[in-house]
This record gives sequence, structure tokens and C-alpha cells, in this order.
Amino acid sequence: MAFYGPERYVDMVDLAHARSIDPAKFVKGLGQEQMAMATPCEDTVTMAATAGRRALAAFDVDPAEIGMLIIGTETGVDHSKPAAVYVHELLRLPERCRTFETKHACYGAMAGLTAATDWIAAGRARGRKALIIASDIARYGIQTPGEPTQGAGAVAMVVSASPRLIAFDEELYGDYTRQVMDFWRPLYSKYAYVDGHYSIACYLDALSGALADARDAASVETDISLEHLDACLYHVPFVKMARKAHTRHWEFELRQPIDEQNPTGQERSMASYQQMVAPWLSLNSVVGNIYTGSLFLSLIDYLRGLTPEREGRRLSLFSYGSGCGAAFCVGHVSDGASRYRQAIDPQHHIDGRRKLSIDEYERLLHACEHVDESDIDDVELSQPSAWDLRGEIFYMGTRQHIRQYSDRSL
Ligand code: HMG
Repeated sequence: MAFYGPERYVDMVDLAHARSIDPAKFVKGLGQEQMAMATPCEDTVTMAATAGRRALAAFDVDPAEIGMLIIGTETGVDHSKPAAVYVHELLRLPERCRTFETKHACYGAMAGLTAATDWIAAGRARGRKALIIASDIARYGIQTPGEPTQGAGAVAMVVSASPRLIAFDEELYGDYTRQVMDFWRPLYSKYAYVDGHYSIACYLDALSGALADARDAASVETDISLEHLDACLYHVPFVKMARKAHTRHWEFELRQPIDEQNPTGQERSMASYQQMVAPWLSLNSVVGNIYTGSLFLSLIDYLRGLTPEREGRRLSLFSYGSGCGAAFCVGHVSDGASRYRQAIDPQHHIDGRRKLSIDEYERLLHACEHVDESDIDDVELSQPSAWDLRGEIFYMGTRQHIRQYSDRSL
């Protein structure tokens, strides 16, 4: 696995001051400290390709070994052409490769991961590996309630029959789908529309639904019980959401509501949150919502802190995509996984990012609105030099309606 995100970020205290809001609402109320901000030269393709390149290099995987490439994204770059095919070229993957894009809001990458594990289990991989990349730019727009829950980034995962980090339980899996209008982005809009509080309720209902399906799939009920898990990882649109999710997980397990009438339940679920969820949310708190990749960013946080004693332990993963679709599954940490702690840790990259002033951030969002429409020479701030970026792969705007990418590594 590898994470890659934009080199610029917005500080939540600065944003709160600029919007005349108490900073405690963003930092404590939502649990967010910073949010990554993609410049006009970074898009779903550049972040996915960079994360993919890092995952292959860090785990010494030859691109020739990849027989399947899936990009899970809800911020694709074309209504027809998949982002995956640009990434396929940038990573120099073999032509004999099944390549496509999956979309179902934040659930898209989990759908891709399941397709990859099924491909391997069905015997179609013929010894090859799959590369699944979650890549997104979360944008709600200036002065909207969703503004403090933006972010951008990509998580790449190599899937094989002999995983070095985590192995998924093939049988224990719960699905959930229901048509709801909690969050959507019409074809004509660069910004998402959201019914924020309703979306939280939909997320929690989907968690109960996916847990119920997983419980029915389990051979014995204790297979999914919290006491047999080392960590519970959730989709993290903002850090506080993971706390709400864990409370719901406890309610499901105890079969009773956890509220002021149930102080013991409140205490137990909070203690369990501090032990099984909170330690793996520090990357999410400084990157923000990265939609498809948010759950897997929390998994990277878990794996980068791994000690040998944790090898073999079980953890749960819950993916939620608005609209809505969700899945709950269980995996266990592979023997020897703690050896890859440093290879997987993106802290160096996070530390190298530069903070944007709120004025720069607002100009950046305006520049991004037009970068796809015009010829590159006409677009202000569309060149990597305007942002002093150090990465390798950049989006250079369009020429005659064709997206242009540059790769400094060539
Ligand atoms: P809001 O109305 O601005 O905020 O919307 P609020 O009034 O609900 O306050 C937020 C929290 O801060 C509350 O905590 C307040 O009490 C607290 P809670 O009661 O929930 O525990 N608070 C404070 N705390 C300390 N000091 C203070 C203070 N003031 C308030 N002074 C909302 C918040 C998240 C709804 C909004 O930002 C939004 O619409 N975000 C986008 C939607 C979203 O993230 N939904 C999450 C579930 S849906 C999902 O995860 C899917 C998604 O990722 C998309 C996809 O699938 O593709 C979004």
C-alpha cells in the first residue's frame, strides 16, 4: 500500500477564523486539523499514478506482474474514458491487463478491491497481481457546510494471493444498498451537493445493515464480535464520524441504544473507541476526506504503527458510499507485516507539505474551476511552477479537448 496526496493544505483554525466560526467546531466538533488541497496541476489521475508508483516501488513489485488495474473514484476526469487508462500508461503496465474505473461514491474502491479478490479467488489471475487505487478530490465549495470536510489524495493497494500486509476473510462479508439522496454530484457540477445531517443518518443505517448481513454470513456470531477484533476501521469523511460509527457498532452488538439513559454503554463504547479506532485516525485528521481512499488511509495509519505482537490479529473495515452502498468485512494482519512499517508510512510526505493562506486557497479553487475548459496557455495558475510543486506527475490542462500529463521522471 501507499498514500499520496497534494503538496498543499489548509489549516482548519485559519479556515474557521476566515468564516467567523469558533475553531473548536472544526477541530473538536469534526475532529479535523488540516485538509489537503489539490492545485490545478493535480487531479485524480496524477495522484493515483503517483500513489501506484510508490506502492510498486516500496514493495518491490514489477509493473509486469500486474494483470488488473482498477481505479475507484467519484471524481473521474472524463464521462467516458476511465482515469485508469491514463494511469495504466503512466505506470507502464502491460497491455495484457484488465483495466477499468469503478464508481459508487466513497464505496468505489471497496467495490474494486472485492472485484480483485474475487478475480484471484476465481483463478483468473494466473499468478499475477491486481493494483487497486482509490483517488479523489473532495470539494464542496466556499462557505458551504461541507467546506471543512474537503480533502484530496490517493491510496494504492497491490492485491495478491499471498498478501504481505492483510488477508481478507473470503466468507465474512456484509453488503448493503438503498436509494437515498444524501450526497450527489450532478454531471454539470464540480462541487458535491449534500444533505449533511441526513448523510450521517444514512451512513449509520448502512453500517447496521452491512453488519446484519455480515452476521448472517458468519459461521458463528462471535466471528464479527468486537471482542475478537484488534481494530475497527471505518470510512472517515471527518474524524468525528468514526466515533459515531463505533457507537453504532456497539449498539448493534449490545442490541440496545447507547444514550444518556445508558451511561455504562456510553462509557464502554468510548473506552473501546479510544483503544480500537482513535489511534488510526491521525492521517485522516490532517488529510481530510479523500472519499474512496479515506477508509484505506486509516488502514495505512494502523499498519504504519504495527508491532510484531499485532501480527495475526483481526480487524474490521467498513466502507460507506453515499447514494448509498456499503460493505463490512474482516481481515487479519499477515505474519511479517510489521517489517513494512517504514515502507508504508507517508509521514515524510505529510511533513513536507506547505500551508496555503485562505486567500491562496480561494484563488486555487477558482483556478481549478476553469482548468479543464481552456487551452493550457490561457489558464492562470495551471503550471506546476506557479505552485512550486516537487512531485513527478502533473496535469497540464487540455489541448484540443485532450488531457495533457507531464512526467518529470522521464
Ligand atoms: P454542520 O451543521 O456545519 O455542523 O454540519 P454541526 O452543527 O452538526 O456541528 C458539527 C459537530 O461540531 C457537532 O458535533 C457539534 O456539536 C460540534 P456532534 O453533535 O455531531 O457530535 N460543535 C462544536 N464542538 C466544539 N466546539 C464548538 C462546536 N460547535 C459545534 N464550538 C456536517 C456538519 C458534517 C453535516 C457538514 O460539514 C457536512 O455536510 N459535511 C459533508 C457531508 C459529510 O461529510 N457526511 C458524512 C456522512 S456521508 C459520507 O460519509 C459519504 C461522503 O464521504 C461522500 C461519499 O460517499 O462520496 C460524504
